[in-house]
Amino acid sequence: MEPNISGRSLSAVRLSGVSRAYRDRRGSAVQALINVSLEVPEGSVLAVVGPSGCGKTTLLELICDLQRPDGGLIETQPAVLMPQRDLLLPWLSALDNSGLALRIAGHTRAHTRARARELFAELGLAGFERSRPHELSGGMRQRVAFLRTLLSGKQVLCLDEPFGALDAITRAQMQTWLVQALRHEPRTVMLVTHDVEEAITLADRIAILSPRPGRVIEEIDVELPHPRVRTDAAVIALREQALGTLGQEHAA
Ligand SMILES: Nc1ncnc2c1ncn2[C@@H]1O[C@H](COP(=O)(O)OP(=O)(O)OP(=O)(O)O)[C@@H](O)[C@H]1O
Ligand SMILES: [Mg+2]
Repeated sequence: MEPNISGRSLSAVRLSGVSRAYRDRRGSAVQALINVSLEVPEGSVLAVVGPSGCGKTTLLELICDLQRPDGGLIETQPAVLMPQRDLLLPWLSALDNSGLALRIAGHTRAHTRARARELFAELGLAGFERSRPHELSGGMRQRVAFLRTLLSGKQVLCLDEPFGALDAITRAQMQTWLVQALRHEPRTVMLVTHDVEEAITLADRIAILSPRPGRVIEEIDVELPHPRVRTDAAVIALREQALGTLGQEHAA
């Protein structure tokens, strides 16, 4: 998308009435998403929350052009996916894993390693450049995978449950770290998460999806300064609001 003439805040991602169905083995249609409309302002973080199977991964894959919608319109700046599993290549070092997108884009190994090294220290990975993925902790692997996503240079980062597999303490550290990383390297982020508290901690806006077929049932603006404290009254109120919406849909 190009800047508009007035130069006001722009959408990095815009979905209008997007639907997507799969075929199961017997050939019947499985409607994953129905009539999804969303807008993500440039430089903001949108969290997408919804129950398992409601189409969150499908949504990110559509934005990253890894799938095509059956209906509706998707307008987006260049987008990259950090998949639900880290998918690091076991035979490459942490440094070379993080630079994979640059190498694939045709940059030399020397240039790629220099770029990756710059960010390694910032991400708390200094000293682990030569480690293989199995020698890293879960949190470190996620950071390497995130760095690979960041180094792709794309404006829109689609993060699919980036901290889903981590324990509570590491998860909280990673959330703090992500806020800092985005301060250094501002991007537009679509963050898929099961965790309402994580959404409130990180996002400017939360889109809540219904159970499959996923559609947007509520959007909540989170206009609170960082760092956000989970015991804060405003945070608790937002959490109750979001959980209420999710619970009602489950009960329905
Ligand atoms: N390639 C596929 N072929 C057939 N059905 C699929 C395919 N991919 C996803 N689905 C179905 O589409 C629906 C949405 O799947 P999706 O992976 O997008 O959900 P999700 O919200 O990411 O779930 P989770 O929270 O468990 O990761 C599910 O019912 C799933 O079974
Ligand atoms: Mg998923």
